[in-house]
Amino acid sequence: MFLTKKEEQMCDGEFGETIRKSMDILVALGDIYGAPELVDITSAQVSGVSYKTIGEAGLEYLEDLAKDGSGKATINASLNPPGTDLDNWKELGFPEEFAIKQNQIVDAYANLGISKTCTCTPYLVGNVPRFGDHVSWSESSAVAYVNSVIGARTNREGGPAALAAAIVGKTPLYGFHLDHKRKANLVVNVSDELSGADFGALGYIIGKVVGSGVPYFKLQNTPDNNDLKTLGAALASSGSVALYHMENVTPEYKQAGVEEVEDHMFISQKEILETREKLTTTDRQPDLICLGCPHASLEEIKKVANIVQGKTIKNKLWICTSVSVKATADRMGYTEAIERAGGNVVCDTCMVVAPIEDMGFEVIGVNSAKAANYVPSMCGLDVVYNDVENLIQFE
Ligand code: F3S
Repeated sequence: MFLTKKEEQMCDGEFGETIRKSMDILVALGDIYGAPELVDITSAQVSGVSYKTIGEAGLEYLEDLAKDGSGKATINASLNPPGTDLDNWKELGFPEEFAIKQNQIVDAYANLGISKTCTCTPYLVGNVPRFGDHVSWSESSAVAYVNSVIGARTNREGGPAALAAAIVGKTPLYGFHLDHKRKANLVVNVSDELSGADFGALGYIIGKVVGSGVPYFKLQNTPDNNDLKTLGAALASSGSVALYHMENVTPEYKQAGVEEVEDHMFISQKEILETREKLTTTDRQPDLICLGCPHASLEEIKKVANIVQGKTIKNKLWICTSVSVKATADRMGYTEAIERAGGNVVCDTCMVVAPIEDMGFEVIGVNSAKAANYVPSMCGLDVVYNDVENLIQFE
């Protein structure tokens, strides 16, 4: 890979150890994938934050990287969800030892200049690239959103690679950064109108079929941005989709090369319903309903507040979101309506990366196909997959 003089000096440690180690990662990646050079990025989103997933070894790695203080993020960079609500972990019943370690991890990232904005929907709260920007993002649902809905360009980066890119301000130029890698290779024709959890089911079906390919959707109705984030998260969890196009909806659908795609699939409500049923793993009722995968937008919190207003929820209810979205939900009175009904708006974390298996829950109700896909394997718990209106039960 071609390196400029300054990049070579970075590799030689002339700008300190943190930058040298970061360049090591980027150059190794570039060599593996045949990148001709590094490209400037405007944004990074770094995964590998929960103590549940990175553990002691991850914490040591971060503290070691930050040790000499020589390198900090040079561009807008934020974090993926950690394993706790960083501020309210005690009130919500998170284990203390876990919470202390979790805060150490987030502090170590902050020492490397990564913002303590901890969310998988950073595009809702200030980490918002422009169309065509090169970025380095690692949360798979956010990658699908930023590539597809915003039209910025990123590969599905690992956490260390996105962190290295944040520090150097560059990433290797390959994969989804290149025009020809952004073409569709499967056309998906959906014959019925979709709503709510249907979008997750559609993403789950297509992700399995297309793997790391680029699907092109033709739908009967126009989804909103919440539906698009749900769809992308599911595509990225049952498959490893980083980019999808949608006719008349996403910004690059006209450049997707759809006329040259030979593979076509047809999906009807029948397959969607079968998949919705398949994603539920038990007949039991959920003892925790967990919404906000990917992290909830203000509109999604408002919807839940309207549903529960003036009632009492039977089971526990969490709506996971970022601190910024919650701050506005507080002002709008949504949080109060939800809390009065017995629910919580939980910041930073989510049902997959939190240690919910150690918090006494057995069955989790979700409206996200990504969560339905991961909760059984990552938490060892059963899930019920349904629309919000059907999940929440009242006294
Ligand atoms: Fe986000 Fe957690 Fe879902 S990181 S996409 S809420 S599994």
